[in-house]
Amino acid sequence: MPVIAFANSKGGSGKTTSALLLAQALAAHRPTTIIDADPRHPITTWADKPGRPDALTVVTNNSEKTILDEIEEAAARDPFVIIDLEGTASRLMSYAISQSDLVILPMKEQQQDALAALDVIQEIHRDMKATRRNIPYSVLLTQSRAAVKSRTARHISAQFRENEQIDTFHTEIHERDAFAAMFSMGGTIENMSTKLVNGLPNALANIEAFRAEVIAKLRAIRETETGKVA
Ligand SMILES: Nc1ncnc2c1ncn2[C@@H]1O[C@H](COP(=O)(O)OP(=O)(O)OP(=O)(O)O)[C@@H](O)[C@H]1O
Ligand SMILES: [Mg+2]
Repeated sequence: MPVIAFANSKGGSGKTTSALLLAQALAAHRPTTIIDADPRHPITTWADKPGRPDALTVVTNNSEKTILDEIEEAAARDPFVIIDLEGTASRLMSYAISQSDLVILPMKEQQQDALAALDVIQEIHRDMKATRRNIPYSVLLTQSRAAVKSRTARHISAQFRENEQIDTFHTEIHERDAFAAMFSMGGTIENMSTKLVNGLPNALANIEAFRAEVIAKLRAIRETETGKVA
């Protein structure tokens, strides 16, 4: 039932990659739908290759006119719904955010990604006013180096991590061959061959940490909301 949208109006910030990694990790436990709402349809192209797990349904969105119905249908069917959005602010992005239980803002540790993430945060606050409900969101640092960070990367990640107004995932999605290879090879990280791709155990540990943190956040959000009602 929870709906999780990946949004950042900066192209190449890591939305599609992180969305598909989370969808795979969730689908290993529960049926999951990913709505491909990027007009270039990268997830649909991935799903056309062999290796998509049966528990992962891919819905291809073609218009802002149908997105609300697609989200509603998927949420009624599956325990988890993920939405991959395009890299520009749009009405479709607002519609998706308005239906989300959690918005994840992937960003590289670069100034333009950070500024675009802040724009999306402002958009989320406008959507909260329009819908008169709280929409939890969290920044996800992506494509980060697993080893030593550059000075700029350290500075940008510290700006988010030290900001008490903005929730930021403890887990970062590291830059890894396996995460890029997934789109050319198809299939899941779990089923990749160690002969073809390096660093698979670390890649798997990274996405499992991400999945666990998403689940913990959803649980905390639900507890806060039930607490409010009680
Ligand atoms: N963690 C990662 N490790 C390795 N490569 C990555 C990672 N994240 C993203 N990439 C690569 O960076 C590029 C952009 O990533 P991605 O498509 O996920 O970004 P996006 O935010 O969805 O972009 P767009 O706004 O164009 O939809 C892709 O070529 C992808 O393979
Ligand atoms: Mg994308």
